[in-house]
Parts: sequence; C-alpha cells; structure tokens
Amino acid sequence: MPSAIRPVITREQIQVRLRELAARINRDYAGQEIILIGVLKGVFIFLADLIRLLTMPVRVDFVRLRSYGESSTSSGRVVITLDAELPLQDRNVLVVEDIIDSGLTLDFLLQHLRKQGPRSLKVCCLTDKRERRAIAIPLDYVGFTVEKGFLVGYGLDYAENHRQYPDISELDV
Ligand code: IMP
Ligand code: MG
Repeated sequence: MPSAIRPVITREQIQVRLRELAARINRDYAGQEIILIGVLKGVFIFLADLIRLLTMPVRVDFVRLRSYGESSTSSGRVVITLDAELPLQDRNVLVVEDIIDSGLTLDFLLQHLRKQGPRSLKVCCLTDKRERRAIAIPLDYVGFTVEKGFLVGYGLDYAENHRQYPDISELDV
C-alpha cells in the first residue's frame, strides 16, 4: 500500500513565494557578488528555480552532508561528504537549504563555512519546520514555515523517493 500523501504547498504557491524571496535577495545584495552554496541533494529544484530569479553576479557551489541516525531524524553527528570548491574567503556566501528540522545539520555547516572567513554568511531555506528545532539558528530568508510533518516533493525525499513531485506534500511515515 502506498503511504498517504496530502499536498500542503502547491507549485503555484511556491513560484509566488520564490519571486518574493528573490526580490528581497536582489535588494539586499544589489551591486554585490554572491556565492550560493546548495546543500545536496534536496535543494536541487529549489536552487534551480531561485537562481534564475537573481539579478546580481552569482556563482554556485554545492556541499553534501551526511547525518548519522535514524532515516527521518538528524542525530547531530554530521560529516561532510562533498565540500565546496570555490574559495569563500571575503565572499558573500548564501547557504541554500531545502528544509531545516532540528537545525543540527545547518549549524554544523555554518561552523564549517565560517572557518573560511566569508565576508558575509546568510541562510535561505525553502521550509522551516519548527517542531523539532534543537538549536536556534538565524534564518535570513524563509520560504514557508510549517509546524511539523514529513514533507516530500519539489526536491524533498523520503528514502530517495518522491523528489519529482511539483507540489510539496505531507507524507504519513
Ligand atoms: P536537521 O539537521 O534535523 O535540521 O535535518 C535537516 C535535513 O534533514 C534536511 O536538510 C533534509 O535533508 C532532511 N529532512 C528533515 N525534515 C525533512 C522532511 O520533512 N522531508 C524531507 N527531508 C527532511
Ligand atoms: Mg537537506
């Protein structure tokens, strides 16, 4: 039996919100260059849509992180399995994430990136999931805030499945 799936954020709502986010990012970084650091894999669709709305000079790089623990929760023991290649010193760095849950993965990544001495380091996330937040992290640009639930679609996966759905849906896991 397939798990029940309920759409919670439609593709139209995503595109409207992305234009609002991009307008703020374009204003905040006007006249400056930025490096987007996408956190693989979940971010690939969000990043592809967002970057096409940005008007300043943009470069893009990716990191990949693995968190040890259960498949649907983060343990806080994080390792970097793919690191950024572009030098980040004195650069405006904007981390782009699909979803923040406990915050442990992002906290680890920000500490790692800060060591390289970026000029600025900010965070843009598509969804901010509040219920299990274990560590307070300032999120500079947030697409959607949800209280709880396991979300799939628009890049988000459950055990590597469901990434291709155009809407974001809640999955009963
Ligand atoms: P955190 O360290 O608990 O904040 O976990 C963050 C990572 O867990 C995200 O970048 C996702 O890869 C994954 N994750 C957390 N919640 C969800 C969800 O609802 N759907 C899909 N992936 C999730
Ligand atoms: Mg992720």
